[in-house]
Amino acid sequence: MSGEIGRAREGFAQRFGTDPEGVWTAPGRVNVIGEHTDYNGGYVLPVAMEHTTRAAVARRDDGRVAFASLQGDGHVVELGIDELTPGRPEGWAGYPAGVVAGLRERLPGGVSVLVDTDVPVGAGLSSSAALTCSVALALRDLVAPELGRADLVELARAAENDFVGAPTGILDQSASVLCTAGHALFLDTRDLTSEQVPLDLAAAGLALLVVDSGVTHDHAEGGYGDRRRECETAAQRLGVRLLREIADVAALDVLADGTAEGDVLFRRARHIVTEDARVLEVVATLRGDADPRAIGPVLTAGHASLRDDFEISIPLLDACVDAALAAGAHGARMVGGGFGGSAIALVDADAVDAVTAAVAARFSHEGAAAPRTFVTVPSAGARRLA
Ligand code: GLA
Repeated sequence: MSGEIGRAREGFAQRFGTDPEGVWTAPGRVNVIGEHTDYNGGYVLPVAMEHTTRAAVARRDDGRVAFASLQGDGHVVELGIDELTPGRPEGWAGYPAGVVAGLRERLPGGVSVLVDTDVPVGAGLSSSAALTCSVALALRDLVAPELGRADLVELARAAENDFVGAPTGILDQSASVLCTAGHALFLDTRDLTSEQVPLDLAAAGLALLVVDSGVTHDHAEGGYGDRRRECETAAQRLGVRLLREIADVAALDVLADGTAEGDVLFRRARHIVTEDARVLEVVATLRGDADPRAIGPVLTAGHASLRDDFEISIPLLDACVDAALAAGAHGARMVGGGFGGSAIALVDADAVDAVTAAVAARFSHEGAAAPRTFVTVPSAGARRLA
């Protein structure tokens, strides 16, 4: 912990020649279940990871904003605060810049930001939310103390949607800001009510294994936006504002009108409706006295739905899920926006090595580079470190 603070402070001082006013941290996430439900007003159940982004921040007095990263080539992205506009700056700095732009009236003198991260980038583990939320919390503490946690989620979401132009929902930012250690966050994305659901896998002799396929995705373009539009069209045809309002798959039959488009819309909507039901089923299991292993098959069913109905998996993640299950995982699924990224597997703690080896062997068999694998435990949300 103190190593993280020292690295961020030193990196800041090296680049900006002064000390930061503080250091803040925000985590990446894995979603236990509830994929692509967030922009349909549905349910999600993420946990925060130990992997975080730290932001060292200080206000300036020259009207400039500057962004540096310990992961980059040392280049500092700098411009006038009045020059911040959607699409400028480009690249990774657009994310923190979008947060700064959202509070620019409070920052007449500008601000300097140095970030350091160990969240895998492009892995479907919300590196972008860790980035925006760490900076949002920093600016809240420095210049906007009236903002509550829900406001921070909204500030980070707006940076991503409106400034960077990535049409994501609210899952990642909510997880990064609202999650607490030892719990999964059960969030209703329609009314934004939430509940901390205890998730002590270790006590049950279980572990949550994360497998980063190494195939990166990019939400700012492509299939993610297509899926979003398909869900909106399906909702329109069904006469509802959000697919969340459909409680029973039988109500979806009207979508399947015999055309190829109707079939696609039917399957997209079926994923959302069944996925919402899966979140409720997992939450009910975790709230009760049942063995948490019972959620395994629900996770696996979620993967099949993402693969067959929502069509956002890739063969390597399908192979990964199959290999994990064959090696004894209780359940496994791809996570995140899709078209690459990571998978999770619920495994007995004493089977982690065997499942990891089986997955690695499968990647090798498929001709893919060895995946990055690690066990994650539900960790704390965004907070100030120093
Ligand atoms: C990405 C988006 C989220 C959510 C997930 C899929 O992570 O940023 O808003 O839609 O995909 O569940």
